[in-house]
Amino acid sequence: MSSTPTTAPTDTEIALRPAEMHLYKPAEPATAVVTKTEICTAGKKAAGYVRHIEFDVSGTNLVGRAIPGQSIGVLAPGVDAMGKPHKLRLYSLASPTGGEDGQGRILSTTVKRTIDEHWDTHKLFLGVCSNYLCDLQVGDKVQLTGPSGKKFVLPQAAEQHDYLFFATGTGIAPFRGMVMDLLASKANCRVTLVMGTPYATDLLYHEQFTRLAAAHSNFRYLPAISRERNAGPQGPAQHGKLYVQDRLKTDAEELLPLLRSSRTLIYICGIAGMEMGIFQQIATLLSGSDLEQYIRTDAATMEKRANWERSMLHKDIKLSKRIFMEVYA
Ligand code: A2P
Repeated sequence: MSSTPTTAPTDTEIALRPAEMHLYKPAEPATAVVTKTEICTAGKKAAGYVRHIEFDVSGTNLVGRAIPGQSIGVLAPGVDAMGKPHKLRLYSLASPTGGEDGQGRILSTTVKRTIDEHWDTHKLFLGVCSNYLCDLQVGDKVQLTGPSGKKFVLPQAAEQHDYLFFATGTGIAPFRGMVMDLLASKANCRVTLVMGTPYATDLLYHEQFTRLAAAHSNFRYLPAISRERNAGPQGPAQHGKLYVQDRLKTDAEELLPLLRSSRTLIYICGIAGMEMGIFQQIATLLSGSDLEQYIRTDAATMEKRANWERSMLHKDIKLSKRIFMEVYA
């Protein structure tokens, strides 16, 4: 375990790992081959269908050049209702820097089937690309672009920081690769992953994270189950239903020193809106220079923090460079 200095640094830019961009574009995509596709929810009876899908990119320029926090683009075959080719869809990589194989040849991602009803006709709606990907079989070819994204990656001097990762749903994907990278590097950093899902059966890569937490004393894995009380992985029964930000309270003894430390970086990935609950909780738990390490606001805004909204970000609520976010509607 590393020490926990508590002085607040100035809000300096954090140099991130260099990320290569757009090696392949839609007009000339790379061809990869599916090598694995498996359900990655904790329970077979999970409410959603989420798959871990691996692609062999051997023979392409993607080998060893896509890092956690980046996305790959997928081109689903066929055309849309207007007769135009389907648009590119981006999927976060779930693989570590060395890929699933340690050689950078096998990339992976985490895909949830989009299944819904059209609100006007109440007919079944199936998301084009997610269902295309989840239907793929081992040996099938797929057209990929990218990688893309360079703002949600780990810092270059990764060992100089501790990490608080907050994920909901498939927002877990980048953290799987990051956690694997950080633990494999044997850097003496503390890594805490808080993962939110509606039910315990929806937890993704639960076995893998449980195993990693048992093997690495510097890694904590904290599930937060929102619709079930006393869910097994949640820990003590008195915790009840939890959102990810509630873990800052239930596990305050461990997480408060982490928040106060000047080494800590916060990464948030998942459903849009989740970040506000995290910021409200941080503003409740911290004050003064501890708080300013992450959030700057005035007294009136602070007073009304129960009503903070996303539209207030960057204006009334200013975030420091130690918060990284990738949230989606
Ligand atoms: P809930 O839907 O019970 O309110 P998934 O992507 O698998 O649906 O999981 C998303 C998880 O994020 C759910 O547990 C969901 O809870 C939770 N969630 C939804 N809105 C927020 C929010 N504003 N802050 C934190 N967690 C949220």
